[in-house]
Amino acid sequence: MDAGFPVLRLRRLRTSAAMRALVREVDLTAAHLIYPLFLVPGHGVREAIPSLPGQFHLSPDQAAWEAANAVADGITSFLIFGRPGPGGKNERGSGAWDPDGAAQQGVRAIKDRVPDALVAADVCLCAYTTSGHCGVVRAGTVAVDNDATLPLLAETATSLAQAGADVVAPSDIMDGRVGAIRTALDQAGLEETAILSYAAKFASQFYGPFRDAEDSAPVTGDRRSYQLDGGNLRQALLEVTLDLQEGADMVMVKPALAYLDVIAAVRQRCNAPIVAYNVSGEYAMVEAAAQRGWADGVTMAIEVLRSIRRAGADAIITYHARQVARYLG
Ligand code: PBG
Repeated sequence: MDAGFPVLRLRRLRTSAAMRALVREVDLTAAHLIYPLFLVPGHGVREAIPSLPGQFHLSPDQAAWEAANAVADGITSFLIFGRPGPGGKNERGSGAWDPDGAAQQGVRAIKDRVPDALVAADVCLCAYTTSGHCGVVRAGTVAVDNDATLPLLAETATSLAQAGADVVAPSDIMDGRVGAIRTALDQAGLEETAILSYAAKFASQFYGPFRDAEDSAPVTGDRRSYQLDGGNLRQALLEVTLDLQEGADMVMVKPALAYLDVIAAVRQRCNAPIVAYNVSGEYAMVEAAAQRGWADGVTMAIEVLRSIRRAGADAIITYHARQVARYLG
């Protein structure tokens, strides 16, 4: 056993900023952060998203501009979400794989403007289907048809990779989609495109502000027949194992804050990079407190993000990314 007090005084390790930095076990830098961008069709569009204060709906040209500014702040990675224009939804969600969709155009515009930035693109159908579900629904029901959805996801991932996405990130939670996407990418000669699978994605109240932003809430029913039940840690580990077997390069745990134990458990068992999603509801909690003057938003965000790193995440998707990057300098 080490010596105790008064020979040992741990406060000596906290005496200055330099000392604290020297002995800090887990670091948080802008390079660990992935900044989500919400693409909409059009040109010159930059509209505040009411449910996500500080975030914007951006047309592809504006997204490229936003990305360039974020890169100047130290951000190196982005996650792209798209949505169709008015009247653009249908049963199969075909807007998701439109080569000229807002997401595809946004990926192209961003890669053009900041070629060194890493661009990941979310792969899902919920913003594009009339049902608001993440897959195709069997006629007259709210049951999502797993196997009928797989080729549509593969097509969506391929179109985003062809637009230049470095990473495709399926968030739908159908069984077998990672394998289906890997096969489709390889057949299209896109073997260098990486897959970040939303492996342990739990059904959550914390997605509310995002669904407002994306207009992607299910019209009827909910997502509990495909997203994981919050009581299940072992099942989350099985999902991670299966996705890695199917060819995922990185795995995600989502949400982050209420699932730090899941991040820690995945870290113990797997050697693949782990990405945690600090989701919209987690952002909303911090921003709402900050707006009321109840807390300092950016330092509170850093504390949250550091907890996610400490739990074992390599990278974190967060709406605070730019704010935090600027603060960290
Ligand atoms: C789409 C998707 C969702 C999020 C990311 N991709 C919403 C959902 O599953 O309902 C949530 C992100 C957030 O809340 O910040 N499937």
